[in-house]
Amino acid sequence: MSGRNVTVVGLQWGDEGKGKIVDALAGHMRYVVRYCGGANAGHTVLVGQEKFALHLIPCGVLRQDVCNIVGNGVAFDPVVAWKEISALRQRNVSVDGENLRISSAANVVMPWHKLQDTLSEASLAEGKKIGTTARGIGPCYSDKANRSTAIRAADLLDASILGEKIRAIVEIKNKIFAALYDAEAMDAEAIVSEYTELGKNLEAMICNTGGLLRAAVAGDVPILFEGGQGSMLDVDHGTYPFVTSSNVTACGVPSGAGIPPSAIGRVVGLIKAYSTRVGEGPFPTEQDNELGDTIRQAGNEYGTTTGRPRRCGWFDAFAVKYATDLSGVDEFALSLLDVLTGLSELNICTGYRIKGQVQEMFDPAKMSGVECIYKTLPGWDSDITGCRTFDQLPAEARDYVNCVEELLQRPVGFISVGPERSQTIVHHSGTEGLDK
Ligand code: GDP
Ligand code: IMO
Ligand code: MG
Repeated sequence: MSGRNVTVVGLQWGDEGKGKIVDALAGHMRYVVRYCGGANAGHTVLVGQEKFALHLIPCGVLRQDVCNIVGNGVAFDPVVAWKEISALRQRNVSVDGENLRISSAANVVMPWHKLQDTLSEASLAEGKKIGTTARGIGPCYSDKANRSTAIRAADLLDASILGEKIRAIVEIKNKIFAALYDAEAMDAEAIVSEYTELGKNLEAMICNTGGLLRAAVAGDVPILFEGGQGSMLDVDHGTYPFVTSSNVTACGVPSGAGIPPSAIGRVVGLIKAYSTRVGEGPFPTEQDNELGDTIRQAGNEYGTTTGRPRRCGWFDAFAVKYATDLSGVDEFALSLLDVLTGLSELNICTGYRIKGQVQEMFDPAKMSGVECIYKTLPGWDSDITGCRTFDQLPAEARDYVNCVEELLQRPVGFISVGPERSQTIVHHSGTEGLDK
């Protein structure tokens, strides 16, 4: 059972290149499912010369015969979803109730969530700010846990229930926002009419996706679970409080999609050949210097969702090993290796020291101010973007990959040497290939 299922999960701070690999593997899948996060994600897929940046719609949408599912664990923003659907249609990508299904149990991001995200961040002192994407993610999940102030996708389908809920919640939020932030009152009626309209637009897509997926699991129909964010941003296991608000590791798949844990299939851990982070929080291998700028330029490291420059640094094998063990990673997809071309020396962090003491066990709560222990490897100069086999890579690049495998004690299944579908080397992979 679930022999062909795959879970793709980011093992760093997001933007590891999940979109490219999900799109590549989706050719073999019947379902592609988002189970966490929301429009805070930005997944880039290049099809020929065409670039797609997807936020809420799963990356399987660019493949025919794939049904894309926005799972119950997603903070679903119907405004972003409808914009994205319309933009895809304009580019001749068909999106309808056949190839896109939205869980009726997904919690809806409402205007007050986005407002609160922005107001709350603005009110925090430097050093306390999280550096969110302002997409309303944290406030939406807060209301999910609070229950009485939450709206689910199913509510969008019943105008009278929706109207009643919006009016009641706006009354509460207006009082809170006025008291806390001296904010102007929101107009409940304008929100009711906007979201009733969105409900009509999305009606054909909203359904019981958990039931669909469990039937697929029972029938051994292949499913790919598309992670959002990265493991170090997981609300329970990341660098709390500088994290997102959902369970983004493979541990979040069963509850975020509504399938049994045994159905998550083979876990492919996405790692970029260096590290990046957007937003605040500890980042031990950060290179806030010329080297970091060089990597940012070479890798075009600017946020897909917010356009913010990403912080750049060396590959942190100590942190990635933790994320690997947490998600039970079977193999890695190592991306953006080409970005390291031209650097004379490369560092990989193998551990941390705190007050001179080497840390035995990784602890995401103990990452601030640590001293990194580095292994230094020689770099390479020749362009690797045209390499299609491991043997075509320069010896130094092969050594770098071998070193990653050795430190993490798992195989590197895929090596990505450019953003295009074809720029991928299948290496030690046990996952059904990328040839479709
Ligand atoms: P995601 O959030 O994990 O899907 O990643 P993003 O799309 O936010 O960021 C990854 C960026 O790197 C995108 O612009 C991709 O097109 C690009 N990309 C993916 N793989 C590679 C690669 O191997 N080399 C290069 N140079 N770019 C890549
Ligand atoms: P993908 O799926 C990178 C970061 C934000 C911020 C923190 C909390 O493209 O890899 P939030 O808006 O979620 O409350 O912000 O999480 N963040 C991401 N960073 N890639 C992402 O998604 C991210 N989603 C959230 O920058 O630091
Ligand atoms: Mg991204």
